[in-house]
Amino acid sequence: MLQAAAKTLSVATTTSVSRGILLSIRHYCKKTPAKLRVSEAVSGAELGANVKVQGWVRSVRAQKSHLFLHVNDGSSLQSLQVVASSELNDPLLTFGSAVEVTGTLKKSPNQKQLVELEAEQIHIVGKCNPLEFPFKIKERHSLEYIRQFPHLRCRTNAFSSLLRIRSEATTAVHSYFKENGFLQIHTPVITSNDCEGAGELFKIVPSGPDYEEEEHFFSVPAFLTVSGQLHLELMSGAFSKVYTFGPTFRAENSQSRRHLAEFYMVEAEVSFAQSLEDLTKVMEGMFRSATEHVLAHCAEDVDLFHKHVTPGHREIVEAMLKNGFPTITYSEAINILNRSSENFAFPTDWGCDLQTEHEKYLVKHCGNIPVFVTDYPYDLKPFYARDNQDHPEHTAAAVDLLVPGVGELCGGSLREERLDLLRARLQQAGLEDTYSWYLDLRRFGSVPHGGFGMGFERYLQCILGVDNIKDVIPFPRFSHSCVL
Ligand code: 4AD
Ligand code: MG
Repeated sequence: MLQAAAKTLSVATTTSVSRGILLSIRHYCKKTPAKLRVSEAVSGAELGANVKVQGWVRSVRAQKSHLFLHVNDGSSLQSLQVVASSELNDPLLTFGSAVEVTGTLKKSPNQKQLVELEAEQIHIVGKCNPLEFPFKIKERHSLEYIRQFPHLRCRTNAFSSLLRIRSEATTAVHSYFKENGFLQIHTPVITSNDCEGAGELFKIVPSGPDYEEEEHFFSVPAFLTVSGQLHLELMSGAFSKVYTFGPTFRAENSQSRRHLAEFYMVEAEVSFAQSLEDLTKVMEGMFRSATEHVLAHCAEDVDLFHKHVTPGHREIVEAMLKNGFPTITYSEAINILNRSSENFAFPTDWGCDLQTEHEKYLVKHCGNIPVFVTDYPYDLKPFYARDNQDHPEHTAAAVDLLVPGVGELCGGSLREERLDLLRARLQQAGLEDTYSWYLDLRRFGSVPHGGFGMGFERYLQCILGVDNIKDVIPFPRFSHSCVL
């Protein structure tokens, strides 16, 4: 009996103790509501919870008894609707101001949204004068307009969607390579070689009181990289499949809609590649898997572009994913161009480089889907491209991927792995000493190999239909412009 009494007592004690703990947890929670991102709040997972949301006001609507706000914190395209008593209204609660809202998440009576935040407290963290703020409430500003405000454009729906897509596409590219057995290599930004041999280099010189003008910091001239290819090539000689994804620099004095002075390039290098097909498979695989990932993981953000910024582009993307990418040779491309009735500004003779107008025509001709062009004239390609040793047309085993709206998206080639041929070409260009280390790669365990580079901004332009490359990079750098 004593035992039973003790048991009852202990249960009673435990129950009252745990109730006390629960109450104090509730009390504590009430005092310090959980901080929630808008994306979590709008998902409906936390209905009934007392929460704190921080962000920027996207809309304000004051009614007689109620105040409605939309708050966005960049975690999603959706904003969280806040409903408050009009007593909480404040003239400083304006479009663009930063706020911290505490309240309870409730099921919204309105069909437009699943959830709303019933506010108990609204704290204005940072005010914003709507007359001076360049973006106006409920106005859909054009990409050209918002580009004028590089320091503020991330506060617009379109550019914040773009940046979320860009981040997700970056993840997708890394996932593709990881899933396909590639090792990531951080290739250097500072280098002494001009991989493409086009002389579009930015030279690096030290600056400051300790340095003479034009002094070589590294004892040799140094530049910002135009491509990580040569560094990747040496790594592919040990790891077979490698890739890099980083900033790349070109001193091209171009104001075009597809050139930047600083852009991001995805580059891959594959050892034991027997033919260009071994490379085109990787290019196509990466394009498809990254695009499918972006469409699945950023559906709302992509829709904003496909519906409001570049209407009609969704169908083009779907066609790209539905069909396999065809391959034509450069010689076939020249024949297609010469047979066309188009008046091209640039010549289309065999031996001429393909210009954007030609590339866009070829894409249209092939059904407005990506198309590989292979086997370019040997003389058009840099020293590393593999000689096809064909006659009478002398070509190199190089390949470009041309895509709708953009033209060239990827450039790649098999690399000349034969020591004698490579040495002869470098000798001709007077570069044998400069590239003695590169020749070593052909001396010690040389294998057939190849690789490619894809301009990441051009990829985003292609899947979103964005016309100007400056609208798909957080901070565009081009000739005569380096703001911020
Ligand atoms: O065709 P590119 O010059 O090829 C290379 O640099 C090779 N070394 C890559 C490799 O084989 N590892 O450049 C590759 C891609 C182009 O197809 C284009 O998409 C992009 O990089 N690109 C630019 N993107 C923006 N602005 C520029 N100025 C660009 N120049 C090239
Ligand atoms: Mg190229």
